[in-house]
Amino acid sequence: MRMYDIIEGKRDGRELTDEEIDFFVKGYVAGDIPDYQASALCMAIFFKGMTPRETARLTLDMAHSGEFVDLSSIPGVKVDKHSTGGVGDKTTLVIAPVVASLGVPVAKMSGRGLGHTGGTLDKLEAIPGFTTALGRERFLDVVRSVGCAVVGQTGNLVPADKKLYALRDVTATVDSMPLIASSIMSKKIADGTEKILLDVTCGSGAFMKTIDAAIGLAEEMVTIGERVGRTTAALITDMDRPLGHNVGNALEVIEAVETLRGKGPTDLAGVCIELAANMLELAGVGDVDTCRGLAREQMANGRALEKFEQMVAAQGGDVAYTRDTACFGRDACSREVRAKREGWVSHMDTERVGIASVALGAGRATKEDSIDPLAGIVLARKTGDEAREGDLLATIYAADEARLDEGEAILRNAYKISDERPVAEPLVYARVTRKGVERFS
Ligand code: URA
Repeated sequence: MRMYDIIEGKRDGRELTDEEIDFFVKGYVAGDIPDYQASALCMAIFFKGMTPRETARLTLDMAHSGEFVDLSSIPGVKVDKHSTGGVGDKTTLVIAPVVASLGVPVAKMSGRGLGHTGGTLDKLEAIPGFTTALGRERFLDVVRSVGCAVVGQTGNLVPADKKLYALRDVTATVDSMPLIASSIMSKKIADGTEKILLDVTCGSGAFMKTIDAAIGLAEEMVTIGERVGRTTAALITDMDRPLGHNVGNALEVIEAVETLRGKGPTDLAGVCIELAANMLELAGVGDVDTCRGLAREQMANGRALEKFEQMVAAQGGDVAYTRDTACFGRDACSREVRAKREGWVSHMDTERVGIASVALGAGRATKEDSIDPLAGIVLARKTGDEAREGDLLATIYAADEARLDEGEAILRNAYKISDERPVAEPLVYARVTRKGVERFS
């Protein structure tokens, strides 16, 4: 078998055989297939897609490319949540402690920033001392003693995704339905949780730009999860505007802590409650309505915040920063971005907001780049808000003026200000389970 023929076949729209997909995954992980051929295949998949059979095979091959995690030593039903990515998406930081504070263990393996989207590991590492590189045993210990832990992929877990994720990030092949589905579901299958909740984002800041595309991706992932015996559900959530006000690593930790204190922005708190309620329902705690109430209560009575602080301490983080978020301080340089005309913020190109935060230093342009934890954006106005000329749209933070110049130019282009007030969009559009699609709008 030759990689050349596999690339050519997909380029011409042919359905690949199981043997061809096996050959690619094994060969790429072993280092026999070079990055340039793997990139060419990813690009061909980006343009020609994959059938559900091909996607399922790719997912299983990727899952079996490394070890599996055994969570059986942790008592209780383990539930995981995975987002397809967004801008300002700090929901894991809120949901994991909310769910764990209700006795449902969360053993979470997260990722780093990808493309214009932020990564949970980068956010948590903004807390001085916090480590996301716990060994397997320590990871399980923290979940057993605290109830939740968030780490990077430990050991030799899904090496095929590790390599492909990094390759896709720099070859413009992230936003492909089969590649996202196989990346996420291979990790979920290998990381051992029994129940999986997927947060499939849609809109200008998501990889899936329309509700229908997001539902299609959710259906594909739910089918794969159920086929391997994991109860899987998905919520289709809005990412046509950034979630919350803060974009950037330390800034997002600060907003997550405020949300855990019951003082977070309504959209972020609302999405977190929906996601937590659906995770709790999957764990068998009660129906979604009851679980919504429980999640709200844990945020109001301080138990969720307490759980977050326990997790931060167990992972080596300095809780002085979560107790008093002023400890984070601010980046060396900041600038206020003000409206040049009067009107309504009628749309935000949320992907551009993410790109602006990367330009400010909050994300990576290349695999080797380091991150500035204090860089980012605090949005004063978002879609649906009114502004007069000179009103504050956002404050941006970076290490130097050159980065502020670049970030400001990109961010300004993300705002569309018009005379008409836009129609308010829901936070959650639909829920997808093995029973089908339930639309809320
Ligand atoms: N999250 C992942 O883990 N993989 C993707 O491809 C996209 C988002």
